Amino acid sequence: MSNDDRGDHELRVSKIRNGTVIDHIPGGQALNVLAILGIDGSEGEEISVGMNVPSDRLARKDILKVEDRELSQDEVDVLSLIAPDATINIVREFDVVEKHRVDRPAVVEGVLSCPNTGCITTGDEPVDSRFDVLDDGVRCEYCETIVREGIASLIET
Ligand code: CTP
Ligand code: ZN
Repeated sequence: MSNDDRGDHELRVSKIRNGTVIDHIPGGQALNVLAILGIDGSEGEEISVGMNVPSDRLARKDILKVEDRELSQDEVDVLSLIAPDATINIVREFDVVEKHRVDRPAVVEGVLSCPNTGCITTGDEPVDSRFDVLDDGVRCEYCETIVREGIASLIET
């Protein structure tokens, strides 16, 4: 029996009726995923978070369940930067009606903040950040700073 499939009696986070389940997030990244999606619970959203649960595909995975919200492909594609193997499951009346993987977008806008303090996007006059997504990182379109490691720490809060 696989770790992913241990039966409902061992489910740590209960099934949801309607909403989105983001599965196969690398262990420890669930809160960064929520930050990218701009979800912090302050609007009363029902959110379940499982962190560092055993998984077949990843040594440890995180899982997020957002109720009564169906996330669009565009919304979730930015997750590919920190959760490239995430699976997006749309749930209606307890059934998974759609399952897809995240795709790497060409550009991410207003999600990451440039680490270059001299960049126009980090100055007093706010300009939305824009990063090109490279094979191995992201590049600020304004100052061309390239970030390859620690992208999660650039997530705007
Ligand atoms: N899920 C949920 N609520 C539901 C239905 C499913 O929270 N009403 C969750 C499951 O717990 C699982 C994920 O959504 O974490 C995907 O469900 P499902 O496709 O049934 O599971 P698997 O076949 O194991 O998915 P995968 O092959 O993508 O690992
Ligand atoms: Zn910049």
